[in-house]
Amino acid sequence: MNTNPMPFLQRLAAAALLGLAASLAFAAEPPPAPPAALLKDLPPLGETWRVDNPYRGDAKVAEIGRSLFAESCARCHGPDGDATRYVGNDLRMLDIYCHRRIEDPKARAHCVRDNDDFFKLSVLEGKRRAGVTHMPAWQGVLSQEAIWAIRTFLESRRPAKSDKLPPAAGG
Ligand code: HEC
Repeated sequence: MNTNPMPFLQRLAAAALLGLAASLAFAAEPPPAPPAALLKDLPPLGETWRVDNPYRGDAKVAEIGRSLFAESCARCHGPDGDATRYVGNDLRMLDIYCHRRIEDPKARAHCVRDNDDFFKLSVLEGKRRAGVTHMPAWQGVLSQEAIWAIRTFLESRRPAKSDKLPPAAGG
């Protein structure tokens, strides 16, 4: 007698769906805060959100950002933000258009500022599409210091002008 009425393929599909549901639920949970020790050396910025990344080009902050990124982001965007074999986007490429396509310094600064805003909102609000959470929201979990430090790390990882880009980046 067959004790399990569900055919094998159905069972397999159900198991796959359960796995998917588990990983999506994982993305929807509020993510854990990074250890306070990682944040203590970041120059304080206060409550008001800056329009531009205030740490831009600061190598020391970029190093702290690297550790914060490893804690909170690397599991989906890859250890260096390049997303190879991970679900998230290649975050090193965010400013590639501004730096490779725009010559005028003022227009370029504007382009990078737009990306500062996009980056900040992406992290604070996370990414939901059609009711599915692809990336959790960090509002109330990551401080403005932590978010700009991570942005500073990723900016330091932007490929140099002479580097060949992966085909998808199109810069
Ligand atoms: C659970 C997986 C996951 C984690 C953790 C995660 N992300 Fe994401 N992130 C994604 C996915 C998937 C996308 C693409 C989603 C989309 O566009 O709908 C994304 C998109 C983004 C984008 C938009 C990129 C673009 O070009 O559109 C930014 C910026 C970003 N993530 C930053 C971060 C940062 C910073 C962290 C850590 C604080 C982080 N993410 C943690 C999965 C994740």
